[in-house]
Amino acid sequence: MNETIETYRRQAAERAVELVESGMVVGLGHGNTALFAVRRIAELLSRGDLKDIVGVPCSRSVEAEAIRLGIPVTDLENEPIVDITVDGADEVDPELNLIKGGGGALIREKIVAQATVREVIVVDETKLSPTLGTKSPVPVEVLPFGWRPELEYLSSLGAEADLRLWKYDTPFKSDQGNLILDASFGPIDDPNALAALLDARASVVGHGLFLGLASDVVVAGSEGLRVMRAAGSE
Ligand code: A5P
Repeated sequence: MNETIETYRRQAAERAVELVESGMVVGLGHGNTALFAVRRIAELLSRGDLKDIVGVPCSRSVEAEAIRLGIPVTDLENEPIVDITVDGADEVDPELNLIKGGGGALIREKIVAQATVREVIVVDETKLSPTLGTKSPVPVEVLPFGWRPELEYLSSLGAEADLRLWKYDTPFKSDQGNLILDASFGPIDDPNALAALLDARASVVGHGLFLGLASDVVVAGSEGLRVMRAAGSE
């Protein structure tokens, strides 16, 4: 990652953490940008500037990192309502709809987002896009049993879709043990219609279209920091 982009991501994440207050249940997002937020929360906790925080990690690796950094962690069984989540995104449109899942944690990220009162997304300016799909494929998490027909289905919708591979070209496995298909659609005219089609498929556990879930998007770039709020957010 280039150093400037890394600085922007850290700035966005640290600005978002200013919204975290003592006593809150905090969703801990997955990915490089969200990790800056996790580190900042740990730093504030260790200095005593934040107290009584409990984190709900969006992935096993974030859970391990939070524990390593001394952030108390819990899960949605114990804390079904999350006050605030700070998470990254792969693409953000002007209505604050998102594509997420580049890091493979889309299912837990979406579950945590849906349980969250204030979902704060942190990105550098390269993630902004006029239309979802312009920059990023849509990750689709599928049950291993049905992955091949799903690949055909995504192609029938006009996507160029591939099974996500990982180390030594083996299939990437999500925290749920599922596979991910990355579907490049190009600009998506109607993300809600596409989401409905994907949601209707039996093999699809979930997808990376996060529509109407972000409350705020903190963007850092060459012109500084700005916070965009979703219509209807207080
Ligand atoms: C993880 O599954 C994703 O949703 C990430 O939030 C997204 O890929 C952004 O990650 P980076 O901050 O690493 O770009």
